[in-house]
Amino acid sequence: MAAELPIGTLLESVDRAPAHVLARKLNRHTFWCGQSGSGKTYALGVLLEQVMLETELPLVILDPNSDFVRLGEMRAGAHSASAEALRSRDVRVLGKKGDHDLKVQFTELPLKSKAAVAQIDPILDAEEYNQLLRLEDEVHTIDDRDLVAFLRGKGSVVHDKLANRLENLGITEWDLWAWGGRNVGDHLDETADATVLDLGGFPTPAESRAAALAVLDHLWARREERIGRLIVIDEAHNLCRPDPATPVERLLTERIVQIAAEGRKYGLWLLLSTQRPSKVHINALSQCDNLALMRMSSPKDLAELGDVFGYAPASMLERSSSFTQGQALFAGGFVDSPVLVQMGARITEEGGSDVAVPLR
Ligand SMILES: Nc1ncnc2c1ncn2[C@@H]1O[C@H](COP(=O)(O)OP(=O)(O)O)[C@@H](O)[C@H]1O
Ligand SMILES: [Mg+2]
Repeated sequence: MAAELPIGTLLESVDRAPAHVLARKLNRHTFWCGQSGSGKTYALGVLLEQVMLETELPLVILDPNSDFVRLGEMRAGAHSASAEALRSRDVRVLGKKGDHDLKVQFTELPLKSKAAVAQIDPILDAEEYNQLLRLEDEVHTIDDRDLVAFLRGKGSVVHDKLANRLENLGITEWDLWAWGGRNVGDHLDETADATVLDLGGFPTPAESRAAALAVLDHLWARREERIGRLIVIDEAHNLCRPDPATPVERLLTERIVQIAAEGRKYGLWLLLSTQRPSKVHINALSQCDNLALMRMSSPKDLAELGDVFGYAPASMLERSSSFTQGQALFAGGFVDSPVLVQMGARITEEGGSDVAVPLR
């Protein structure tokens, strides 16, 4: 197994010397940053292909724009040995554009997550929260296919209130629920080489966030198994906001910050990708020991990166304002020393590349 993952060529070298990332240092959290269109998602794909080729580190990819739904398909004309090897990897895509549905069993969510989804506050809605809490004991005996009927069958005012709430908020209508079918956690437990969670296919952002929460809850609940996993979150500002507004957003941020702070010892390693450092909660950002920076022209954002990632030299950070698409600065533990890189080409297909203007 190669310890060095080839990702492209060194920008400064005349003979296009290869650039590498150190595979074993992916057991740290990584921050992947650059303005929209700088090539983050494409470049991330280049790295993830190498991870699948050279390591047995399972990938869990939270993919809000369905950009990785074709990670298991080779590009037309990709006939290299790497393409052949990648073809044999187990890439499992869950979601609308995937091979399997992305479904969650409501009853299996942790209490706090159930309450957040149903917008039940432990103080303001004390009675309902308490009833939800009491239900935890029998939750595994409830037929998940008909939770509302179960609640109505109890014949108590509080149970009715809970049922009303689920119906009134439209939660029972969500596509997300498994209703007796296969739970996302069952797929995660099979630790495919890559599990792509296509969050882009849901009709509402609330469902998409609840799906992400269920995935992270599951991985956290199983943390003691200490299966090393790389949890890739593209467009991480959707899930780890510095100013979460809804209960589910708050729990998501809390969970990601918790994984950032404590996940390393359990083998839960984050790779957070976003456009600007200020869009992700600082307590997640500050735990990242690896930095990949693509084009970034805002001096304010560059100054913030300099503050948080002291290991990235200021002179190199400044270069990023003149990067063209596909150029990146790598700094931190996963490179021997900070380097400027021209990213290599993808082997697998991109999912949702830019929409082209139709020409006559
Ligand atoms: N290194 C590259 N080589 C070729 N095309 C690229 C490269 N990087 C990005 N692109 C293309 O540019 C567009 C935007 O890239 P993307 O990775 O989606 O940017 P970002 O995620 O930063 O918004 C995509 O259509 C992608 O195919
Ligand atoms: Mg992108």
